[in-house]
Amino acid sequence: RTAAKVVNRTVWLTLLAGVGSFYYVTKKDKSPGVQLPHDPEKKTVVVLGSGWGATAFLKSLDTTDYNVVVVSPRNYFLFTPLLPSVAVGTLSTRSILQPTRYVTRHKARSVKVIEAEAQSVDPINKTVSFIDNSDIQGSVSSTTIPYDYLVYAVGAETQTFGIPGVQEHACFMKELQDADKFQRRFLDCLESSAFPGQSDDEIGRLLHMVVVGGGPTGVELSGELHDFLEQDLKSWYPELAGKIKITLVEALPSVLPMFSKRLIDYTMSTFKESKIDILTQTMVKEVKERSVMLAMPDKSIVEMPCGMVVWAAGNRNRKITQDLMAQLPADQANKRGITIDEYMQMKGTRESIFAIGDCTASSHAPTAQVASQQGAYLARAFAQRAKRDALQARLTDLESSAAMMLHEDERNKVVEQVETVKRSLAKFKIRPFTYSHQGTLAYIGSDKAIADLPFFNGSFASGGVLTYYFWRSAYLSTLFSLRNRTLVATDWVRTKVFGRDVSREW
Ligand code: FAD
Ligand code: NAI
Repeated sequence: RTAAKVVNRTVWLTLLAGVGSFYYVTKKDKSPGVQLPHDPEKKTVVVLGSGWGATAFLKSLDTTDYNVVVVSPRNYFLFTPLLPSVAVGTLSTRSILQPTRYVTRHKARSVKVIEAEAQSVDPINKTVSFIDNSDIQGSVSSTTIPYDYLVYAVGAETQTFGIPGVQEHACFMKELQDADKFQRRFLDCLESSAFPGQSDDEIGRLLHMVVVGGGPTGVELSGELHDFLEQDLKSWYPELAGKIKITLVEALPSVLPMFSKRLIDYTMSTFKESKIDILTQTMVKEVKERSVMLAMPDKSIVEMPCGMVVWAAGNRNRKITQDLMAQLPADQANKRGITIDEYMQMKGTRESIFAIGDCTASSHAPTAQVASQQGAYLARAFAQRAKRDALQARLTDLESSAAMMLHEDERNKVVEQVETVKRSLAKFKIRPFTYSHQGTLAYIGSDKAIADLPFFNGSFASGGVLTYYFWRSAYLSTLFSLRNRTLVATDWVRTKVFGRDVSREW
């Protein structure tokens, strides 16, 4: 009985300690303290963007060294890996967002957050111009600010290759509004196909979902869509669910070229079991309102009717990036993006513009993993840079006071100090960026995921239900905050217990 009492008390004490620390952490998180004001003596760092690269930079930066201004058209960080889960309603929209002000309010020195879209960068005069293009604007909606350092992390937009009809008729899967639009359109297709008197052909068309691009975005979305169909739509639309068809179109000979052959085959066979059609070596040539035009492997052109097209065909540079690169033609000729050196410095801008993430053309794939490591690296390099700048300033002070000294003894002392500072400066080296690959993961539907993980000097490939739990725990732990982790975990339980919501928002 005594042992039972001890166990009972231990359980209660552990629970109380858990609740207490959860309360403490969330309370501390909700009430950030007073911050230092901007200091005119410090250099100004302007950060463009609030995505993976910019947020990792902000999170790690010691703001006591700099005055920081963030400019981004969205005032939040979006956890993109779980965007397809939001599109089908497994997760709620807000669960994967973290307001940028939550990040900046916890910094030592106050950080200005400006919700605006940068329009242009002047690398010669070191200025950025931006506009407020939100629905509601005050009397001022455009301005230009100077920077000492610019952290350029505007990401990329979806590649359309100028293919007719893509912008007008397809949905993308890059931003939060894309996931919302997808959900509304998909449920609209379902409800319209249930309209009385609809012909079988028209029902077939409306319920045919075409996903273009067999990269991880297209594959993950197809997998999530399949789960929605199996786990929920079969219950709420029993007469229609069997007619829903998902087709994944890929121009290359296989999907997911970044994964090992074994995992590609595993994905293909899982999709086959899930009745997701994969058309490889097939290129979408045009997207129409009610169909897509396909160039088939035998070069014939086929029109495939469909209710909806999701376009996930890769990345391309934003216009602002193209304009910035065009100002430095001698150093910036790579069509894939900004050329940077191993210190993230944009070539041709002599330590004033640092570019990170999807807007750059480096040897690394455009992934969140790369962008966040680059952002965190840059913050560390900025701390070193601040130390170097302080030494430089001290050197200038000492040199000018030495020049003014009349007594030789005093002057010699200062000259000695000058030499010491010079020696420290000569030793000063900012380390270059090195990327550490943590592996590649993707969800493929039916509670299965695939993972290519680095293992000693090789790699370890795994796929299946266990990998799915690994995928979930890896993303849960990578989520930005305790708040995000709690919301996502609760959403997973909510979906398991109550299913996904099929009400269509306007
Ligand atoms: P982003 O995160 O896109 O951020 C760009 C920021 O710049 C945004 O805040 C944007 O609003 C802002 N911006 C845009 N224009 C301007 C402007 N004119 N002025 C100022 N700011 C501007 N990668 C992985 O490693 N693992 C994954 O599982 C994974 N899953 C993904 C799933 C999906 C659906 C998608 C679309 C991508 C996924 N990625 C994944 C890729 C990953 O999201 C990107 O590589 C990553 O977002 C790049 O970070 P970034 O900071 O360069 O750009
Ligand atoms: P992607 O560039 O990886 O794949 C796009 C695919 O679309 C390509 O395979 C291309 O051949 C195909 N395509 C292009 N035009 C086409 C056309 N007209 N018809 C048919 N197919 C066409 O793009 P994605 O998936 O959006 O990923 C972008 C980046 O984000 C990649 O670097 C990727 O690694 C990363 N990412 C990583 C994820 C993960 O690790 N789980 C998830 C999502 C994205």
